[in-house]
Amino acid sequence: MIAAARTQVAIIGAGPAGLMLAHLLHESGIDSVVVETRDRAYVEGRVRAGVIEHHTASLLEEFGVGERMRREGLVHRGIELQFGQERHRIDFEELTGRTVTVYGQQEVVKDLIAARTRAGLELRFESEVVALELGAGDRAILRVRDAGGRETTIAADFIAGCDGFHGPSRAAIPPSAITLYEHVFPFAWLGILAESPPVSDELIYANNERGFALVSMRSRTVSRIYLQCRNDEDLARWPDDRIWAELRARLQSDGAADEIVEGRIFQKGVTPMRSFVCDPMRYGRLFLAGDSAHIVPPTGAKGMNLAIADVRILARAFESYFATGSSERLDRYSQTCLKRIWKTQRFSTYMTGLLHRFETHTPFDRRVQYAEFDYLRTSRAAAASLAESYVGLPFTEDARVLA
Ligand code: FAD
Ligand code: DHB
Repeated sequence: MIAAARTQVAIIGAGPAGLMLAHLLHESGIDSVVVETRDRAYVEGRVRAGVIEHHTASLLEEFGVGERMRREGLVHRGIELQFGQERHRIDFEELTGRTVTVYGQQEVVKDLIAARTRAGLELRFESEVVALELGAGDRAILRVRDAGGRETTIAADFIAGCDGFHGPSRAAIPPSAITLYEHVFPFAWLGILAESPPVSDELIYANNERGFALVSMRSRTVSRIYLQCRNDEDLARWPDDRIWAELRARLQSDGAADEIVEGRIFQKGVTPMRSFVCDPMRYGRLFLAGDSAHIVPPTGAKGMNLAIADVRILARAFESYFATGSSERLDRYSQTCLKRIWKTQRFSTYMTGLLHRFETHTPFDRRVQYAEFDYLRTSRAAAASLAESYVGLPFTEDARVLA
């Protein structure tokens, strides 16, 4: 039996993009339905990003979903860059007047799900979008299959494709209507969570002859650690002992390595490194937001922040459309987002190139990496440039930093 529903905006995906969009739309009195393939426990347990930009944190607070983040999140005023044994701190607060907050993506997701559930609004887990019907007419249709195999349809004025890189929404756009830009890096990140106090109060991004290492955290007792590894890495090749030994070697004995406490590792995963942009991020009544439209390599900690910035712009455009009937903002959506996205691609590519070991690197290339590090250490302008991108570009139309 086919049951039908109707809404203003049908949202595919309950990641940060879909959930935040639903929240912002509700605040503006716009009706939406969120459809998510996975179950609630899976979505809430998925370990990913951890750094929240200044403007993202302010937005979460402004819309009433930042209270736990403020309480439990860790405010970071800078980061450490390490080349070989040498360390240099980039002081965000002094250089930009801003900070970032370390708070797990799955905690943001939990807070948004709790807000939606509290408000009694529709969020369908274990419901997979199997087809999008975008034909002409005054509405679009989603075909959804629930856990019991039952098919339903949702008719909507618009569809928001917040379904991540592998979701069905981008695939529903005729290839001739979009241009895809892509770069795949020849390495990946092995990420772990461990019951270990952080080795340092701030994040350490280390460029080492053996490969990149990043020491982050989730709390004062849980460390989040990433090690550059092979693209086709097999987790079986990384028993816990090897991970700790490799981290020690990459941090070298300059103090930080000596602080490593080898706690229980309770999560391991491999993240491929990719850059990707889909232009435009719209096809008729379908709007893409977040990872469905773009991927950045994780070195700049930008993926979740970009996803939230997209839906901030999209929510405003829907608001304007439903209040006035004007589609001007919706028509500008893609162009507005892409300005920030390309600036963020630039930054993520820069950070990735600065900090990783590339097999193709010649001694000349290594010297240039070291020169960049030295430049960051000795030029306030260079350090300020890194800092202003790291804390995040403003949520203005053209992501302009200069006043
Ligand atoms: P997703 O979170 O991927 O959500 C998409 C949702 O759509 C999923 O729940 C999926 O199940 C659902 N879906 C897919 N297909 C369907 C379907 N057919 N029907 C219904 N639902 C569907 N970003 C940062 O900002 N800072 C960081 O520090 C950072 N670190 C990272 C570290 C790692 C290891 C990784 C992997 C990523 C990191 N990122 C970081 C990136 C960030 O996690 C992503 O950019 C973010 O998850 C994007 O959110 P999204 O809502 O667009 O997509
Ligand atoms: C984390 C992830 C990143 O990609 C990054 O650049 C910094 C921190 C994290 O998961 O904590």
